[in-house]
Amino acid sequence: MSDEPYYPGLEGVIAGETAICTIAGGLSYRGYSIEELARDARFIEVAYLLLEGELPNQEQLADFQSILVESGELPPSVTDLIASIPLHVSAMDVLRTGISAISHFDPQLDDNSREANVAKTLRLLAQIPQLIAARYRLSQGETPLKPNDELSFSANLLYMLTGKEPPASHERATEVSLILYAEHEFNASTFTARVVTSTMSDLYSSIAAAVGALKGPLHGGANERVMEVLEEVGTAGRAESWVRDALANKERIMGFGHRVYKTGDPRAVILKQYCAELAEETGQTELEEIANTIENIVVAEKGLPPNLDWPSARLYHYMGLEVELYTPLFVVSRVLGWAAHVIEQTENNRLIRPRSKYKGPKRREFTPLVERG
Ligand SMILES: CC(C)(COP(=O)(O)OP(=O)(O)OC[C@H]1O[C@@H](n2cnc3c(N)ncnc32)[C@H](O)[C@@H]1OP(=O)(O)O)[C@@H](O)C(=O)NCCC(=O)NCCS
Repeated sequence: MSDEPYYPGLEGVIAGETAICTIAGGLSYRGYSIEELARDARFIEVAYLLLEGELPNQEQLADFQSILVESGELPPSVTDLIASIPLHVSAMDVLRTGISAISHFDPQLDDNSREANVAKTLRLLAQIPQLIAARYRLSQGETPLKPNDELSFSANLLYMLTGKEPPASHERATEVSLILYAEHEFNASTFTARVVTSTMSDLYSSIAAAVGALKGPLHGGANERVMEVLEEVGTAGRAESWVRDALANKERIMGFGHRVYKTGDPRAVILKQYCAELAEETGQTELEEIANTIENIVVAEKGLPPNLDWPSARLYHYMGLEVELYTPLFVVSRVLGWAAHVIEQTENNRLIRPRSKYKGPKRREFTPLVERG
């Protein structure tokens, strides 16, 4: 075993099969290119596509939306629970706890059939935005809002956070960012969800574990770090010296680089255009200037293109959203990808249990405690 090759970080390892998403030949969900989905589809259609495997017709979509609305009610005890968590606890930690708490009220918790897993996913899709918004509003001393079922998924999400119906430009930009965040094959959090599922545990356990994996700054947590960096740089005049110093100090620049995209993340390209539009609309073009300077230098000096978290941080900032909401917003959408993988893993399951390359001490004699002095 010890002489066999191994791949740190499982880089390049094909760890399973999937029919949900591929990055080969450009990113696509169930065969549809991400560019077309981001341009022409609504988030809710993509939700259906990821869970059911096909795009919905109008009737199927209407049914799907009705079920989503009916799945909406966040158990009041969960709201009470999250209200009792100290305010210094991060939104991602509260979200992980909240998802676990929702599971205690789900009568289908341990039913791993496809139907039950889809039903549970719709409950999470409806309730996660409420969970995030309720915690956020409570932390601001405001009362949580009930969902407004007349609004689109994204407009309702923004409404529950801000208390205002968003302009069409914010609604569309959110739709696109959620579509882009929804799925990405065997990334760290999705793989986590599949590992948990492979033990025949339940969907909530897989999702709660995936939230924990997403929180890290090398994965979903990067979008919050990106905004902290942009705020630290502050002015366009400081951008070049900041990035050159950071590179000279061998710092990791959040929002750049990717394990599988070495020449560029197509999702970042799509979202950049929405950033430029919202920056113009909200009079924050200096932030675009800062971002472009940093981007040009990191690409030129390190050959590292930006990933999706680079534009998404600015996008959410232009909409007036607080930084601590950025990674939770990723969860709002990625829960679909995770759930689609939970369902796929369940339907063709084999326990995921790799081996390790041992590098510890050779076999040695055990000495009883009394003889060890
Ligand atoms: C995403 C990420 C973890 C992928 O990393 P990976 O495939 O494991 O690559 P490594 O961490 O082994 O890095 C390879 C080299 O590129 C450098 N590098 C990678 N990303 C970098 C970044 N964002 N800034 C500066 N250098 C970076 C590493 O320092 C390393 O250099 P070295 O060989 O001189 O030591 C990495 O690019 C990263 O940390 N990016 C920042 C966090 C981020 O934006 N995450 C969101 C991903 S969608």
